[in-house]
Amino acid sequence: MLTSPKLFVAYDFSNPSKAKEFSKKINPEQCGIKVGKELFTSGGPAIVEWLQSKGFKVFLDLKFHDIPTTVKRACYVASELGVWMLNVHAMGGNDMLSAAKEGVDQSNQNPYLIGVTVLTSMNNDNLNEIGINHSMNKQILKLALNVSTHKLDGIVCGASDIKGIKPSLPKDFIYVTPGIRLLSNANNDQKRIISPEDAIKAGSSILVVGRPITESKNPALTAEEIIKKIS
Ligand code: C5P
Repeated sequence: MLTSPKLFVAYDFSNPSKAKEFSKKINPEQCGIKVGKELFTSGGPAIVEWLQSKGFKVFLDLKFHDIPTTVKRACYVASELGVWMLNVHAMGGNDMLSAAKEGVDQSNQNPYLIGVTVLTSMNNDNLNEIGINHSMNKQILKLALNVSTHKLDGIVCGASDIKGIKPSLPKDFIYVTPGIRLLSNANNDQKRIISPEDAIKAGSSILVVGRPITESKNPALTAEEIIKKIS
């Protein structure tokens, strides 16, 4: 059973100072932090360790996608950092998924390992552009089944994608869903968006929310509003 904050704030900041400053505005009892490529490239493992020292659970969102050995080694060192969750692109294929799992299992830590299905910034036209001519739902189901077969803990997907795939997946599978927007928010570059309460109704386990919180005039209040809506 997953015991965690249901809300992870996407720390898409350009440097560690901004991340540290923002951390005064949110509460580690209420939300975890997703560290992605931008912040990790500027702040490295030190910012992950700093956030963890302040009591935040860290979801390291580096979406590894490479040859199996490279991904295995990357997953091993990411796990050793003590992060609570990390992820790989399911489109990297089955050998890569299996290598990722081996990397995590060889570490002395036990983070959740998640496979990214189709980014929520993509729609059917974007899938066609890269040569995938079947539907979004079919592609997400195929990738989710591969993730589950290789004993990863769950997937990243759009919340509205869950309904069609859940019956085919394990009961304790974790669904991490970005693309969350409050009524007052702009879509930004997200194409498959949903409100926090609808995401939970749809079966999300964890909501990833970036700009609606980080660009809010009152981030603590916005985070609290979201938590109220999903509790
Ligand atoms: O600002 P916003 O709420 O759109 O941030 C969403 C975050 O979730 C970003 O950090 C983005 O990289 C990440 N993400 C996503 N879609 C996925 C996986 C991760 O938007 N499928």
